[in-house]
Amino acid sequence: MRSMKSFFDRDRIIYFLRDADAGERRMLYATADTVRRECVGDGIHLRALLNISNCCDRACLYCGLRAGNKNITRYRLDRKQIVDAAGRAAREGYGTVVMQSGEDPVLTPEFISSIIREIVSRHDMAVTLSLGERPREVLRQWYDDGASRYLLKHETSDLVLYGRLHPGMSFTARMEMLSSLKEIGYQAGSGVMIGLPGQTWESLAGDIMLFRDLDVDMIGCGPYIANPHTPLGGTSKKDGNQVSADEQTVLTVTALNRLVTGDTHIAATTATKTLYSGGGLYRALRSGANVVMPDVTPSPFRDQYLIYPGKEPVDGIAGAAELRAELKKQTGLEIAGGRGDRVRCHS
Ligand code: 5AD
Repeated sequence: MRSMKSFFDRDRIIYFLRDADAGERRMLYATADTVRRECVGDGIHLRALLNISNCCDRACLYCGLRAGNKNITRYRLDRKQIVDAAGRAAREGYGTVVMQSGEDPVLTPEFISSIIREIVSRHDMAVTLSLGERPREVLRQWYDDGASRYLLKHETSDLVLYGRLHPGMSFTARMEMLSSLKEIGYQAGSGVMIGLPGQTWESLAGDIMLFRDLDVDMIGCGPYIANPHTPLGGTSKKDGNQVSADEQTVLTVTALNRLVTGDTHIAATTATKTLYSGGGLYRALRSGANVVMPDVTPSPFRDQYLIYPGKEPVDGIAGAAELRAELKKQTGLEIAGGRGDRVRCHS
């Protein structure tokens, strides 16, 4: 495994992303599938995704939740709605609930603390948070309350592109928060979008190497999908250096992420399902991914978490049995039980 990780240096990563032919890519996917089996086993881990608020203070140029977008119905779940939804997810057999939101200051540290405590006292369930950038003391408090994982995508490691897409935000602050999370004891997750306008193959290779260098525990990378209600809209220009958001690129990134990190939990994302109508999700699970995040947000709010148009979330409650059956049938893999923490693999 160690030799595999070092085999994929910067030049080889760029080669597979940009130049490899269909046959070479198929080999790459198959190798990642083998490494996935050796390092994290044959179980697909299901995480119940609970989007608790779509309010956001940030103005990221690509995102439908951005402050200032009037073409979205805003919502914020109350305490009971959150706890009830987590309870439904627990009864449905999920070992993890992911509480996710925009950067919403109305979700105070105390509010989140009390919800974490209630969920972990009632259910044998891991709590993952994805609530944006928060001060270190708050992260420490939530960890002490019982949250054990945190997702904070770095979106792109290209500093110029990061600056252009994230007004008033700092890449360094994000890196610092990822290292704080690990120091506190969280399993930390990151991810990027694939095919952002202005994203180059070199910078995407840098993103993949960064996952390895940061020693993240979880990775979620999905295709960029243009949202007409955002400033970035549909501005993607095609030139040789522009990363495309096609399925082949998403599968290649998934496979490379597996090959350079070994035992991380790698999500087949909702955006991957949306863009490639279901099938892409199954193919990602046989190209290195091992996690699916079905949506357990109650309606009508589920459809209001509109990051990009045409979102097709995987229905995590009404469709749970069908989803499990379909995942098994389409991938030949099992559904994993338990909480699904990261387990270090030493092969
Ligand atoms: N297309 C795909 N993914 C997006 N995200 C935000 N906007 C888009 C988009 N237009 C992802 C980002 C962000 C999360 C809220 O959703 O990775 O972290």
